[in-house]
Amino acid sequence: MQISIINGSPKLGKSTSDLILEYLTPLISDNNAIEIYNISKTEMNEQRLAYIENSGVIIFAFPLYIDSIPSHLLEFLIQLEKRQFSDKNTMVYCIVNNGFYEGRQNYIAIEQMKIWCASNHLKWGQGVGVGAGEMLPFLKDIPLGHGPNKNLGNALKRLSLNILSAQSGETLFISPNWPRFLWKIESSQFVWYPRAKTNGLKRSRLYDQVNNAVSNK
Ligand SMILES: Cc1cc2nc3c(=O)[nH]c(=O)nc-3n(C[C@H](O)[C@H](O)[C@H](O)COP(=O)(O)O)c2cc1C
Repeated sequence: MQISIINGSPKLGKSTSDLILEYLTPLISDNNAIEIYNISKTEMNEQRLAYIENSGVIIFAFPLYIDSIPSHLLEFLIQLEKRQFSDKNTMVYCIVNNGFYEGRQNYIAIEQMKIWCASNHLKWGQGVGVGAGEMLPFLKDIPLGHGPNKNLGNALKRLSLNILSAQSGETLFISPNWPRFLWKIESSQFVWYPRAKTNGLKRSRLYDQVNNAVSNK
């Protein structure tokens, strides 16, 4: 089976979408021809677009941006709409990861992907919403399916079985097996504050919107 995997993370360095795909790819490699395209890093030329068009399975992995699909991926989806998908049974699966703890936050983006499939006469396979996406790189030495990676391992296993048998499945929403309150503290200290600093943003500026909303009441 010909499989196209599209990584829709705009990050130029390593992304959580990369990591999730590193976990998923060995689970579906079984005699399949797999091409992985990172649309931020790879030029999507005619040959690559044709490969996607002729695939039996298309898998999207991307981050949630403002409760939705990142704009550069949206642009790519619009570009794909011009293609004639030769296999009317092409199945589409997607994995959306987000910053907040709850994987359910990805509900709208997954619904948007379902609508995109329907309007392109592609078959919807399954969506997986992964919460606390920024935690996953910290857990990469823990085997999938164990400890804090237990839920992710189970979800990717179910997804891979559906992909291999070209079946549809219910949408899965997961969070790491790790206390929410701890991640709230850790993510501020180890992810969001350092990242704000790297981008020249003072910590106090992160609260501007909240402070403005309170003072406008
Ligand atoms: C512009 C922007 C918008 C975002 N919007 C949301 C959001 O609405 N909800 C959320 O939970 N996370 C949001 N995030 C966080 C990302 O979804 C999160 O960091 C994700 O793990 C990044 O995945 P990646 O490494 O695969 O790119 C946003 C991040 C950025 C940069």
